[in-house]
This record gives sequence, C-alpha cells and structure tokens, in this order.
Amino acid sequence: MQEDLGLFQTIEERHSVKNYDPDFVLSQEDLEDILHAANLAPSSWNLQHWRFLVINEQSKQEELLPIAYNQQQIVDASAVIAILGDLEANKEADSITQSAVDAGFMSGEVKHLLVDQINKAYESSAAVGHQLALVNASLAAMNLMLAAKAKGFDTCPMGGFNAQKFLESFDIPKRYVPIMLISLGKALKPAHRSSRKPLSEKVFYNTMK
Ligand SMILES: Cc1cc2nc3c(=O)[nH]c(=O)nc-3n(C[C@H](O)[C@H](O)[C@H](O)COP(=O)(O)O)c2cc1C
Repeated sequence: MQEDLGLFQTIEERHSVKNYDPDFVLSQEDLEDILHAANLAPSSWNLQHWRFLVINEQSKQEELLPIAYNQQQIVDASAVIAILGDLEANKEADSITQSAVDAGFMSGEVKHLLVDQINKAYESSAAVGHQLALVNASLAAMNLMLAAKAKGFDTCPMGGFNAQKFLESFDIPKRYVPIMLISLGKALKPAHRSSRKPLSEKVFYNTMK
C-alpha cells in the first residue's frame, strides 16, 4: 500500500495528469477512501452541497468523451468523478441539524434558529443556492484530488465539458449543477509542468492599496 505522502508534499506533488494507464483498476476500497476524504470538506452551515457521480464503466466513459470535448483522460482514467453541487441544499438543513442535535452537538433551540436562517437565505434569491453549491462542492473537489494524490493516484479537474449535454445524457436531476469532472487513475506520464506567480503578487496584508 502507498504510504501517505503528508499534506505539504501531497500539495506540492498534485498536478493535473492527462495520461493514465487504461489497464489500471482502481480498487473499490481506494475509491471509497478518496470519496470519504472528499466528503469531509467543510461547507456553509454544514449543508454538504456536493454529490459525486462516479463514472467508471467504460461504456459510460466513452459516452462522456465527446461531451468533454474528446479529452483522452476521460476514457483512460480508472474513473471520472462528476462533482455536482446541490442547488437546494437547504432541503437537507433539517436532517443535518437533527443529527447534530441527536449527537449532542447542538441544542434543539439552535437547530430551530439555524434552519430558519438557512431557509431565509435560500429563499432570498436563487443566486444564493447557486453560489453556495459552487463554492462548497469545489472544496470537496479539492479534498478529493489531494486524497487521491496522497494515496499515489492522480487526477485532472476539468471544466471543459458541455454542461447541458452532460445533464441530459447522464439524467442529472434539475436540483444539481455540474461543477467539474475529475479524472482519477494511475499516471502513465507526468502532468505538463506548471508554475505559479510569486506570492508577492498574490498576498496582501491588511489592505490591497
Ligand atoms: C476548474 C478547473 C477546470 C479545469 N479544466 C481543465 C480541462 O478541461 N482540461 C484540462 O486538461 N485541464 C483542466 N484544468 C487543469 C488546469 O489546466 C491546471 O490545474 C492548471 O494548469 C495548473 O496545473 P496543475 O493542476 O498541474 O498544477 C482545470 C482546472 C480547474 C481548477
């Protein structure tokens, strides 16, 4: 079993891999470990806005290929995980806060206030649900990619796909918005090299002036 790389090394070593070993079979145990880590992401009010559609049947990956503009990693990776965001995550508020009450993490009074606050926020504008789905599901996506790398696998996040065709072909309920696709598998070739602008251009202290 691959030894965990440690967080900072994992972050350094994660890159977007596009060439995968098409014969490599990812075990269900590894897949579930990775999804488990993704599911531990933080989220607004702990509403857990993500859903993971695991596409790991070859015929389904082939169906996805043209939808993702023929990006080869779609068919060569062991799986493609579609990260979906829940536009109506407020519908989960009652059951999620009830579990917190049952576990003794929250009082019934706080639960009541929270559910009310959540519903009011979602009812104020559809943009709220959309924005929260995007932000929170993206956090789960990052967890997923780092967990995969820590276990010795590679990923590539992909925004390059036709969202409308994806929704139709994969019968995604209207409640969910596709955020990104992530290929997951064993690298055949390393990722194209990439660099980052220096922190001096990215970090500001106390004011951006
Ligand atoms: C939201 C998002 C969408 C992306 N879409 C694609 C894509 O469709 N195809 C692709 O090959 N790479 C895609 N990438 C990968 C980026 O090109 C890559 O992350 C960036 O160049 C930095 O390289 P690195 O991830 O290897 O460090 C995407 C990345 C993100 C975060």
